[in-house]
Amino acid sequence: MSENGKVVSFINMKGGVGKTTLCIGIGEYLANYIGKKILFIDLDPQFNTTQSLINEFDLEDEYLNNYTEEHENKTIKRLFETQTTLVRKVDMPSPDEIIVNLNDKMDLLPGTIDLILVESDKDGTKAKKVKKFIYENNLKDSYDFIFIDCPPTISVYTDAALIASDFYLVPIRIDRYSILGIKLLKQIIDRLDDNEKIGIKPLGIVYTMVKDFTQKTLQLKGTFEKNEIVREIGLFASITSYVNDLLVGLQGNISSKYKKSREDIGAICEEFLERVKSYESE
Ligand SMILES: Nc1ncnc2c1ncn2[C@@H]1O[C@H](COP(=O)(O)OP(=O)(O)OP(=O)(O)O)[C@@H](O)[C@H]1O
Ligand SMILES: [Mg+2]
Repeated sequence: MSENGKVVSFINMKGGVGKTTLCIGIGEYLANYIGKKILFIDLDPQFNTTQSLINEFDLEDEYLNNYTEEHENKTIKRLFETQTTLVRKVDMPSPDEIIVNLNDKMDLLPGTIDLILVESDKDGTKAKKVKKFIYENNLKDSYDFIFIDCPPTISVYTDAALIASDFYLVPIRIDRYSILGIKLLKQIIDRLDDNEKIGIKPLGIVYTMVKDFTQKTLQLKGTFEKNEIVREIGLFASITSYVNDLLVGLQGNISSKYKKSREDIGAICEEFLERVKSYESE
């Protein structure tokens, strides 16, 4: 691989804004239509990315047999287990032990609801685990992009994602409260940056699930865009329209499967690649 892979967090402190859908949608499109090699990391205890992808690749049985607490627990949780117990040292798992191959272009480091069982630590070691895993195993040489789906909560998992990432992308829905999740996110990034430089850069904000630009929506959008923080993060010109099939479609919630959302995701991917490139030439 000629260039260094990039790690991107899909994040917003607000729930239900389309983080997971955009993470899978962009990743799958870049893999299957543009030929990029992608690793998805599911850091959300709701593990929606994992559910969608194991469903798409018919891996449900395998997941139940291999990736749950009672079994081998081949999931991201293994990274967060305490390093030393009283009786034995728990080593960091190797990529082979926890990464699931989906096809020749896509891999998944599965999430699990068991993440809620992980105990927090005071010294911040756990928040560095994802970065450590990526760097110690040179994963940036194996993938063009590593996409992290984040939970909408302040937690060790959002910290871990931000510390590991080169970029963050913020999906938002246009509503009265759009700005709140972003303000909170910015506070978290600034706090992490104060503790130790993390070097994460904004790729931009993507408007999601846009129905149509009514007078009211345009007004909310206008107010939102007046915020300094929105200018700092930047705005994608491309948006995702509201596509009912992404909720109820027979082909699941993968954007490229439906005509309208495929057009949206194609345009977003083009802009995504340009934005990444513009940082490289800086
Ligand atoms: N463009 C779209 N059109 C219609 N429905 C969508 C679209 N994008 C996402 N959805 C639906 O909206 C819901 C929320 O989306 P998604 O799960 O991607 O958000 P999220 O930000 O990851 O949520 P959470 O904070 O719970 O992790 C899902 O049911 C999803 O299928
Ligand atoms: Mg989600």
